[in-house]
Amino acid sequence: MPAQTAVKLADYQPYSHVLDRVALTFRLLPQATRVQARLHLAPNPVRGSGLDLRLDGENLVLIALAVDGQRLEVQPDATGLTIPAHLLPDAPFVLETEVEIAPAGNTALEGLYMSGGMYCTQCEAEGFRKITFYPDRPDVMARFHVRIESDMPVLLSNGNPVAAGPGWAEWDDPWPKPAYLFALVAGDLVAHSDRFTTQSGRDVALNIWVRKGDEGFCAYAMDSLIRSMRWDETAYGREYDLDVFNIVAVDDFNMGAMENKGLNIFNSKYVLASPETATDEDFARIEAIIAHEYFHNWTGNRITCRDWFQLCLKEGLTVFRDQQFSGDMRSHAVKRIEDVLMLRGRQFREDGGPLAHPVRPDAYVEINNFYTATIYEKGAEVIGMLKRLVGDAGYKAALDLYFDRHDGAAATIEDWLQVFEDATGRDLTQFKRWYTEAGTPQVSVRDDWADGVYTLTLAQTLPATPGQPHKGLKVIPVAVGLLNPNGDEVVPTTVLELTEAQQSFRFAGLAARPVPSILRGFSAPVVLDRAVSAAERAFLLAHDTDPFNKWEAGRALAKEVMAHMITDAAPVSRDWLAALARVALDEGLDPAFRALALRLPGEDDMAATLAAAGHVPDPAAVHAARQALADAVAAELAPALPGLIAGMATPGRFSPDAAQAGRRALRNAALALLTRRDGGAAARAAFAAADNMTDSLAALVALLEIGAGAPELAAFEARWQADRLVMDKWFMLQVLYAAPQDLAAVVRRLTARPDFDWKNPNRFRSVIGALSANHAGFHHADGVAYDLLADWLLRLDPKNPQTAARMSTAFETWPRYDADRQALIRRALHRILATPGLSRDLGEMAARMAA
Ligand code: PHE
Ligand code: ZN
Repeated sequence: MPAQTAVKLADYQPYSHVLDRVALTFRLLPQATRVQARLHLAPNPVRGSGLDLRLDGENLVLIALAVDGQRLEVQPDATGLTIPAHLLPDAPFVLETEVEIAPAGNTALEGLYMSGGMYCTQCEAEGFRKITFYPDRPDVMARFHVRIESDMPVLLSNGNPVAAGPGWAEWDDPWPKPAYLFALVAGDLVAHSDRFTTQSGRDVALNIWVRKGDEGFCAYAMDSLIRSMRWDETAYGREYDLDVFNIVAVDDFNMGAMENKGLNIFNSKYVLASPETATDEDFARIEAIIAHEYFHNWTGNRITCRDWFQLCLKEGLTVFRDQQFSGDMRSHAVKRIEDVLMLRGRQFREDGGPLAHPVRPDAYVEINNFYTATIYEKGAEVIGMLKRLVGDAGYKAALDLYFDRHDGAAATIEDWLQVFEDATGRDLTQFKRWYTEAGTPQVSVRDDWADGVYTLTLAQTLPATPGQPHKGLKVIPVAVGLLNPNGDEVVPTTVLELTEAQQSFRFAGLAARPVPSILRGFSAPVVLDRAVSAAERAFLLAHDTDPFNKWEAGRALAKEVMAHMITDAAPVSRDWLAALARVALDEGLDPAFRALALRLPGEDDMAATLAAAGHVPDPAAVHAARQALADAVAAELAPALPGLIAGMATPGRFSPDAAQAGRRALRNAALALLTRRDGGAAARAAFAAADNMTDSLAALVALLEIGAGAPELAAFEARWQADRLVMDKWFMLQVLYAAPQDLAAVVRRLTARPDFDWKNPNRFRSVIGALSANHAGFHHADGVAYDLLADWLLRLDPKNPQTAARMSTAFETWPRYDADRQALIRRALHRILATPGLSRDLGEMAARMAA
């Protein structure tokens, strides 16, 4: 593998020049697009004069170069172009370039590329340098004017449309922006349109652009956009700032979506939906991602990042905002539980393994590898903690100051923390460690009851992570409530601030020893370590007033029961079954909550839990235990299941709202349990009767989980073979629910199909990405799945390094497993590392995991 050079935060320097305006002209052709650029530059007074001008540029054929109209003969190198200072005026000047690029050959989906016959761009993080020579860094912000010449009927770029004629269009973006927010789209597209009037009366044209035939699938995305625009006005006082807001759906996209100024580009999976083709989860995700990208207009675009080390400045904050929005639209309790499930499943896993890195990293080889759960989800958690510590009013004052002080600028985490310090007077020196140190803190809890005083003693530890052997103490907000033995709340939620290695907190005036409910709402991204009896957990499951901790008590119980089954061959606990049944059948509770309570811990989660407790998880045993647990729950609830299914029907028109979705979730959870007892009769009938994708897919999954469902899979394929997004689901299900010993064969069969278009990231993810989500199959002792994954990563890497690198994180958990599996995974990683021509993306990931 070639040596990898790291970019370091400590080396940051402002750019040598300032860039005020940019004019771009595109003559689009699939094999030979011409890009002319005029950059209005001047020496940067902060750096002084007499500096060379370095422009980034990759895979560009330089046709012409001129400074103030004078042609220059300067040859580019592999990563850019340096114009020596002596060829530049010591005053403002205009640099003109013309380059040629070939979008049709761009399989990496970064820069200008083609998807389904249309031209589109993806510039974050460093794709603009594949379009033209440019200072491709977020702290260089300029106003863009763009002219597009093409025979495509729809020509779009950022900002407002200023002029158009046959075969051309011009766009002007009045807001200075970094190059990563540039976008261009040209295609034969149709729009689903609407309008929005902002709170100050600006009339905004809204368009969702899709391929012909897809225009009937945009209504939910549009509705989500309008709700997002309204919400950002009321919740944050942030208004939209252009005359048009365009969204384009593309089929080939490496990520979920992209917040380009005024021209968001989306993976079509997160735009297109109808009740027949999208599940309730799809609808919720569309709503969240539409909101996320829209919210970036302020947190990311108006205020951007100084450099890529500050990525969490925009991503953590924007995730936090989209989580608030989804909670407001749906249910805060359910949203919080889902977010924590995801945080623990992905971010804790990352934080506890070889890929652990701080929310603000200080070095990277390939920035694309840092669009991680840590930057996004832990980044959002850190903001949640800040808000908890300074209170709602303090948070609002800090955010107002942030928008005020940094609008139009490229900011840092220091700037972000400073507004909180200035707005609230709070010293955040210690809090900053949440940004600079990797790893998930452990908080251990002891409690005492003496002379009418209840004492909670909290202690924190944080194990070393790669490159960070020593950690400092964190500020950890631990939200606590106390219940009396009757289950009444005697101390309402109070935030304890743990700032030292160990601290005691006293509660006086209680009549009896209370039962504590600790870390309510998951008030900090930590692991709680406390010996709690099953009886106490069952008590909290029954009585806790905090919905998160009520769910958490049931979750912890389920994990303990499952762990005992695996490590001591214990039978399924009767008490747990009874407690679970009470929650599942409690009509006073939200059906969505009851459905979540019935969801058993996943196998990967269980393996992580066992490893954390000092066991070496056997994936086959974990799988068997989970199956046995599900069977036991099905047996316990058997008499109630038909009633539950009937009672949770959703007659009338389908609506993707939270209330209906919650009822379907509970009904389908009950159906999955019933399927374990009736041989699949009810699920087959439900599949045949389903008039929406949620119910159809749920019935199919219920059958696959018991090893049935072949005729239904065939029927599903026959019905949906022309719909790429629905077929992605069909591919994925077969991988997720393959019996462990069959997984490799299933994947080989699916990847041999002509419709396994592996260059399409969604299709690749639906099969190869799902491989490791089948925990017992991926970790089958024969190691075949490891090699299969490595083969596919190596095949994809030359075409699309970004997606290959992302998928390689399947290997990050190797230290958990036994010596044989460790050796097999490490062998796969070393085989990847030894491959000639490996990308920087996959090379960095494999090297970090193998270290
Ligand atoms: N910035 C995008 C988002 O969070 C994610 C993204 C990153 C998309 C890199 C494409 C490439 O919404
Ligand atoms: Zn984002």
